[in-house]
Amino acid sequence: MSRNAEDLARFIQDRAGREPVSCGLILGSGLGHLAEAVDGVSIDYAQLNGFPHAGVSGHSPKLVIGELEGVRVAVFGGRAHYYESGRADAMRLPLEVLRRLGANTLIATNAAGSLRPDMPTGSLMMLNDHINFSGLNPLIGEASDARFVPMKDAYDPAIRTALLSAAQAEAVTLHEGVYAWYSGPSFETPAEIRAIRMLGADAVGMSTVPEVILARFLGLNAAAISTITNMAAGMSDEAISHDHTKAMAPIGAAKLDKVLRRYLRDLG
Ligand code: HPA
Repeated sequence: MSRNAEDLARFIQDRAGREPVSCGLILGSGLGHLAEAVDGVSIDYAQLNGFPHAGVSGHSPKLVIGELEGVRVAVFGGRAHYYESGRADAMRLPLEVLRRLGANTLIATNAAGSLRPDMPTGSLMMLNDHINFSGLNPLIGEASDARFVPMKDAYDPAIRTALLSAAQAEAVTLHEGVYAWYSGPSFETPAEIRAIRMLGADAVGMSTVPEVILARFLGLNAAAISTITNMAAGMSDEAISHDHTKAMAPIGAAKLDKVLRRYLRDLG
């Protein structure tokens, strides 16, 4: 754990209190509004030395610490993507801070393209595994033997079961599937989508996988949910763009809110 993470955790605790956080949430493109529902303290990333300047429109670069549905959470309103800096470990410091604040769980959310006709725009897909199609890894350069992180059940089976129950209780359809990480920032070609479909992917996106690898490295249990904002390239006539992603994210976001809030309420 870096010195900076300890200093930042202390800085955050001085503002938000010392009570341990139990769950961290990373909010993806167009999903930032959940941070506003938290009863707590909001800190701009700009005040957190070494935090990414989350520069992607549709993300809100602030950390909110407080209560959501009776659970103490840390909500990361913005994430750093590999494609912004060329650093696959861009979220390492925020996740180290999360661990330092006491959390044992990370739930990541993202916007993704669907490779499955039965999972159209507006659907939710919980990740049950991933394919690291980028070939990158946030632990390259890590010197300790802890870098050899096992990735079986990286998406924690118990949390997945709890999220499925929460979705069922809220009458929300929560698909399950494999997410392929594509580096971005350009979208995939139709040929790449056909290729990853053959490899077993159900959805594709530009985030989350490095965060889940880092979470497991840091000893956090992880889960992740995609909101489907489009059919992947070549699968429909829909034009794919970042504006489209931001416009479509709210459709799934309303359902995602319900599932996450129910999950937290059931935890508490
Ligand atoms: N590809 C990659 N990332 C995405 C997509 C997509 O189709 N949609 C939203 N994020």
